Amino acid sequence: MIATPFTPHPDIAGRSLLTLRHHSPEGVAAVLDLAAALKDGRAAGWPPLLRHQVIALIFERPSTRTRVSFVSGIERLGGSAMVLSPADMQLGRGETIEDTAKVLGRMAEAIVLRTGPHETLLELDRHAGVPVVNGLTYEHHPCQALADAQTLRERFGDLSGLRVAYLGDGNNVCVSLMIVGALTGMEVVAACPEGYRPPGEVVAWADATGAERGGGARVVDDPHEAVAGARALYTDTWVSMGDEGTEERRRRDLAPYRIDDALLDRAGDGAVALHCLPAHAGDEITYEVLHGPRSAVWDQAENRMHAQAALLAHMLAPG
Ligand code: CP
Ligand code: NVA
Repeated sequence: MIATPFTPHPDIAGRSLLTLRHHSPEGVAAVLDLAAALKDGRAAGWPPLLRHQVIALIFERPSTRTRVSFVSGIERLGGSAMVLSPADMQLGRGETIEDTAKVLGRMAEAIVLRTGPHETLLELDRHAGVPVVNGLTYEHHPCQALADAQTLRERFGDLSGLRVAYLGDGNNVCVSLMIVGALTGMEVVAACPEGYRPPGEVVAWADATGAERGGGARVVDDPHEAVAGARALYTDTWVSMGDEGTEERRRRDLAPYRIDDALLDRAGDGAVALHCLPAHAGDEITYEVLHGPRSAVWDQAENRMHAQAALLAHMLAPG
């Protein structure tokens, strides 16, 4: 069990996690500290930080990692996870998000939602009366970003000034990486072609916010420019949920941004490859990199469990 007494951070306690932009660097650091402590101490046992807490998880889109990492983390910390999909709920027959939120909020201490439009998450949050966690929207994937930051901290220690290159589609995962990067002082350089860039407003915010702690964010065209000096190369699928029907164009436009061993060789010494998964080996990353010695992808996947368990522990700790 964790040796030090656990002190919930006021920036996280009792609050929803919709995007990390609404949270402080100190709150994020507190979650990452607890995530590391839970991971380090797991052989000795998991502390019952979520005892008597029920967390409802609604998946309006498919998920492997987010689903199993939340359930696993919640149950290890002594809580109960209720996994729901619209097909099993009246939500699938037209009951509103507002009414669903009001009912679940009476029976669960927190609600995790994976959905499409971010507005649906905001609607749930407006009516739930309990903290709501973003389990992925088209626009953001903050839980992934927490695990990404944990993985980079494990490998490289202090994240301030750490250069991370993101390659390919400037999607929800890229946006959340830029945001967590800004809060932890990373220098995130995204190489994305025209038409695949993250929103300029997010990049400008991340650049200005990151600069306060030795980091920044920018977007370039050239993958070689992005990876020079980078300690990690990060990519995600070229076809996110909601992008169906555009596969052919995406494969053509994004092919120069594939992570392979040659691109990793151009990065900084000891650089690792990251991918939020699910991967499409041969598209955005080669099989050899994904499963090779420079892959940190499987640690990254495991860290979803630790990071989210830590997040919920801070969020739901008795006040
Ligand atoms: N990375 C991630 O969120 O994976 P799932 O879609 O399997 O949850
Ligand atoms: N960008 C991907 C992430 C999947 C975990 C998507 O939104 O489908």
